[in-house]
Amino acid sequence: MSAIRLEELTKRYTEGFWRPRPYTALDRLSLTVESGEVFGCLGPNGAGKTTTLKLLMALVRPTSGQAEILGLPAGSVEVRRRVGYLPENPSFYDHLSAEELLIYFAGLFGCTGAEARRRAAARLDEVGLGAERRMPIRKYSKGMVQRVGIAQALINDPELVFLDEPMSGLDPIGRRDVRALIMRLRDRGCTVFFSSHVLADAEALCNRVAVLAKGRLVAEGRVSDLLAFRVHGWELVVSRVSREVVDQLAVGARITPIGPDRFAIDVPLAVAPERLLQDFVAQGASLVSLNPMRDTLEDFFVESVAAPPARPEA
Ligand SMILES: Nc1ncnc2c1ncn2[C@@H]1O[C@H](COP(=O)(O)OP(=O)(O)OP(=O)(O)O)[C@@H](O)[C@H]1O
Ligand SMILES: [Mg+2]
Repeated sequence: MSAIRLEELTKRYTEGFWRPRPYTALDRLSLTVESGEVFGCLGPNGAGKTTTLKLLMALVRPTSGQAEILGLPAGSVEVRRRVGYLPENPSFYDHLSAEELLIYFAGLFGCTGAEARRRAAARLDEVGLGAERRMPIRKYSKGMVQRVGIAQALINDPELVFLDEPMSGLDPIGRRDVRALIMRLRDRGCTVFFSSHVLADAEALCNRVAVLAKGRLVAEGRVSDLLAFRVHGWELVVSRVSREVVDQLAVGARITPIGPDRFAIDVPLAVAPERLLQDFVAQGASLVSLNPMRDTLEDFFVESVAAPPARPEA
């Protein structure tokens, strides 16, 4: 059984007061996420990521199409019991402390007394909130609120979590913590569905991704497959070598001097980088780095957004 199954899921909003026009925020999205996967929903601002998550959580109703979670209709009580959700920009009743809030959320799942306190403490430890958990939330930084949101999403030990931009508002250490947390969830067998426009996070975490642009699915698959066919050469950086030798050995390649005796050379795919490197070493040069040049997901976005498939307006 799949963890998530979307079939032709569509959401149209009405825009404009005087002359209402339909606006398609999500256009016939079909997707399947298997149990245990870490799945990334990627796309630039306005692509339809949050709309997809809200449809999955049954916070908005689809115009057409179907969403099934854990084999059940999205929004059913049974589903709510078994999933967790971090909304985009979470905000909480902020006179409570994080600890009080989480004890309250544990109570919503039927967990009270010492067990609720134990659970709240475990989740707060997991997201790295220290003694500040006893301060009222209104005194928290954005990153701290985000951590409370993640702890809240995990309070019921969900088998599937939906995280809308889990890294947003976090500094580099915070991002690393959340990445590690998502890996731990995966290792426990929890399915993770998260949205992001930060591509490095998706590259580091996901088995598979879906790329949305303007409400349409423009690509889907393993991150490695999406990028693999886009390797378009190598960047070789060598040092302790003269410009003359570089010109001689790397005929026709783009050469960028980065120091008096240090050069970056863009080696086209047709040239074996190993051979070229051997030639350089034979001339007394040292290797600084050799990297495949490929489009990042960022480039991929820009292309997808520049030329999305035409959207038929209803
Ligand atoms: N309640 C609403 N009424 C009208 N339009 C809406 C509504 N909610 C979302 N939209 C529109 O739907 C489109 C998709 O929005 P959505 O919030 O899903 O994007 P997103 O991919 O999450 O973007 P971001 O990266 O900025 O969070 C946007 O153009 C937005 O203006
Ligand atoms: Mg969003």
